[in-house]
Amino acid sequence: MTRLRYLTSGESHGPVISVILEGLPSGLSIDIDEINAQLIARQGGYGRGGRMKIETDLITINSGIRFGKTLGSPVCLEIRNKDWKNWDKIMSASAEDETDKKAVYGPRPGHTDLAGGIKYQHKDLRNILERSSARETTMRVAVGSLVRQVLEAFDIQFYSYVTKIGGVGITQEIPAYEQIPGLIAESECRTFDRDAEVTWKKNIDQAKKDGDSLGGLFEVVCTGLPIGLGSHVQWDRKLDARLAMAVMSIQAVKGVEIGIGKSVADLPGSQVHDEIFYDADKGFYHGTNRAGGFTGGITNGMPVVVRGALKPIATLYNPLRSVNVQTKEEFKASIERSDICVLPAAALIAENIVALELADAFLEKFGGDSMEEVSRNYHGYLEQVKNY
Ligand SMILES: Cc1cc2nc3c(=O)[nH]c(=O)nc-3n(C[C@H](O)[C@H](O)[C@H](O)COP(=O)(O)O)c2cc1C
Repeated sequence: MTRLRYLTSGESHGPVISVILEGLPSGLSIDIDEINAQLIARQGGYGRGGRMKIETDLITINSGIRFGKTLGSPVCLEIRNKDWKNWDKIMSASAEDETDKKAVYGPRPGHTDLAGGIKYQHKDLRNILERSSARETTMRVAVGSLVRQVLEAFDIQFYSYVTKIGGVGITQEIPAYEQIPGLIAESECRTFDRDAEVTWKKNIDQAKKDGDSLGGLFEVVCTGLPIGLGSHVQWDRKLDARLAMAVMSIQAVKGVEIGIGKSVADLPGSQVHDEIFYDADKGFYHGTNRAGGFTGGITNGMPVVVRGALKPIATLYNPLRSVNVQTKEEFKASIERSDICVLPAAALIAENIVALELADAFLEKFGGDSMEEVSRNYHGYLEQVKNY
């Protein structure tokens, strides 16, 4: 991140998770209900585990916002763990409570436990799993859903949906993007394809019975971005690369594609590149969007389309073989309360993380200390593009 910076903190079962974000301009109207709506949606979806029923994440704003508007100062957000009363001894900061530590010695194949335990010299793997948990994404969703409000003020919109679970893909065409929120609102799998959803739910139920888990694919789309965010001039300014890193940083994401992604390897150039047209009202535009909104790491005015591949959840109720780090004896990996399939949540998390990265690039280009200044810079640039 260049213009914005933030750090999250907090263990999964600790008393609080929090973030400090710096770099937002002053004068941005903040819809707090929208942040909470995103947080609640993050906890939903078909195939989630028991914890989501215990907690309802609601944000507390400690600084940086007054009377519904940003001040330009750092924003501090936190969420309290509603289940803390059951964890206050287990996750206590006090050495006196160490007797009741609910230690974990069994690393789960596919989770961070073993590599993290060896790296940080912890035999009690709870010291690793508490932070590597995707609970951390709660704060990134909070920051993303706050920061995207800068972009939404300029009619830049975000969408996300699930396109595959457990090897079964959607068969329906992707609808017009603006229809997506309405179509997915009633879907427990965050999809517009009702037939696929029926199969997915059946397969998730079966995976649950089998003690197994399922992965899949999701897509994030951003519309309304101007041409010119990001740059070709240096590797770390390429915005498609920055987005790939951001999405890859989501727990369990193992692949990221932009536009038609890895299909470029199989198709001839005539079916990969997007032809260029000109219209007096629209200016320069592309006839197709196989590039997914980027050329040379620069936004090209077409919708940004990012796809993520999520692996199946590592914690299995029918566990894989592993080795106890204390005794070095083989055993079946330990079970933390776990999800079966988290594609709907992953799509929403990715949507907010993509928004965060794009907002950073937007503010880097048009940044000012107040929204009025950002707006002046943005509209001045649009005028310049029009006269190109
Ligand atoms: C929304 C979400 C929820 C998750 N829930 C679980 C879970 O309940 N159990 C689990 O073993 N892994 C879960 N994961 C995945 C792990 O956090 C992840 O596999 C682990 O941190 C190791 O990171 P890596 O898979 O990127 O290597 C979840 C991931 C996401 C995105």
